[in-house]
Amino acid sequence: MNTAHTPPPSADSSTFNTSAPAGPPLGVAMIGYAFMGKAHSNAWRNVASYFDVPAFEQKVLVGRDAGQVAAAAEKYGWAESATDWRSVLDRDDIDIVDICAPGWMHAEIAIAALEAGKHVLVEKPLANTLAEAEAMTEAAQAARERGVQSMIGFNYRRVPALALAKELIAEGRLGTVRHVRAAYLQDWLVDSDSPMTWRLNKETAGSGALGDIASHAIDQVLFLLGGTVTEVSGRLHTFVTSRPGAHGPEEVTVDDAAWATLTLDTGTIASVEVSRMATGQKNSLKLEIYGDKGSLLFDLEAINELGFLDATVPVREQGFRRILVNEPGHPYMAAWWPQGHVIGWEHTFTHEIRDFLAAVNGGTPPSPSFEEGLAVQRVLAAVEESANAKSSIIQLASPHTSATEGA
Ligand SMILES: NC(=O)c1ccc[n+]([C@@H]2O[C@H](COP(=O)([O-])OP(=O)(O)OC[C@H]3O[C@@H](n4cnc5c(N)ncnc54)[C@H](O)[C@@H]3O)[C@@H](O)[C@H]2O)c1
Repeated sequence: MNTAHTPPPSADSSTFNTSAPAGPPLGVAMIGYAFMGKAHSNAWRNVASYFDVPAFEQKVLVGRDAGQVAAAAEKYGWAESATDWRSVLDRDDIDIVDICAPGWMHAEIAIAALEAGKHVLVEKPLANTLAEAEAMTEAAQAARERGVQSMIGFNYRRVPALALAKELIAEGRLGTVRHVRAAYLQDWLVDSDSPMTWRLNKETAGSGALGDIASHAIDQVLFLLGGTVTEVSGRLHTFVTSRPGAHGPEEVTVDDAAWATLTLDTGTIASVEVSRMATGQKNSLKLEIYGDKGSLLFDLEAINELGFLDATVPVREQGFRRILVNEPGHPYMAAWWPQGHVIGWEHTFTHEIRDFLAAVNGGTPPSPSFEEGLAVQRVLAAVEESANAKSSIIQLASPHTSATEGA
């Protein structure tokens, strides 16, 4: 089975520093092989066919069950499998560790990997607690001094339509952004008999819809607008408090839905609303960005489209126009198909891994960094604190006063 990946000469050469000495392929290890493990494996497997990236090898896949992880390694293109992630960190032929395990494992694995000199890609949210996220960020900063890179998997930054939205906002096409609505709606928990999973237990997940999907929505607000959050008020709610577990009913100890209002130091106010109980909404990250010169609309369930209203044209001509973000000139799209040929959710991971490999190769810090992951984690913690205080407004210290500068 060929697990080595070297890009064909035709792929785009925008990011790859061809002058860099062609060292041995980067050895990649991944921990976890279920939902995210599958999505990331798909990306590792095809990225070199579409983008010019440094040579790498899908070396080892790690999981708990030897038989199952060996089968997954075979299926997803990994050369080997293992059941002990610590032993993998001792290997000299491993340069990159991709963490696709549940949140309670992120801090321990990421910090150990960075200290072992491995570049780290970790799934979101950064950690289950603020303290863990701060410790991870300090480890990332120390590692960066040694040329070791780290990135968090907020993959929706790599949706071409959202990358275009960021460009339009940065170009001033919306003017001053005043009001933002960010919602992430799913319905996989509507059935009260849907069984317990690690996601519904605070010890393994840290929080529920808050950490799982509000983290994406909050990251998008910060990605699109920049700035930092200075004030937060929040509310959490669990609609179904007990679910069938392996040995009878088990208590659900996390939120099914969360609401928050964020004040940014730019003067923008953002509302964030997330739910796992929104019947009929399957995976709908909705973003509405309102400025004094224009507005943008996005829905992940129509991932190739961006709604844009230009309020600088005469009022009688104003209206949201639908931009099909599939032109070669749109972010990432030159690597895929001719205009109008749509792409999917899974392409965002290929874009993410392409950018991560380019940063590792170029010795430049990739984004989103752990510091950016920590900025989201601070908001998550403030929402929880506010929810426990009757939704009172929580002031967030300016990032520059914290121990972890630049977060
Ligand atoms: N970026 C996204 O869009 C997105 C989507 C879903 C999940 N996630 C994040 O990805 C991470 C993983 O979520 P998932 O949905 O893939 O979870 P999952 O339950 O589908 O998979 C978890 C994997 O971790 C493995 N695992 C669990 N405990 C382990 C241990 N002790 N040692 C080794 N392996 C272990 C399991 O065997 C499984 O392969 C979470 O942080 C989640 O928030 C991100």
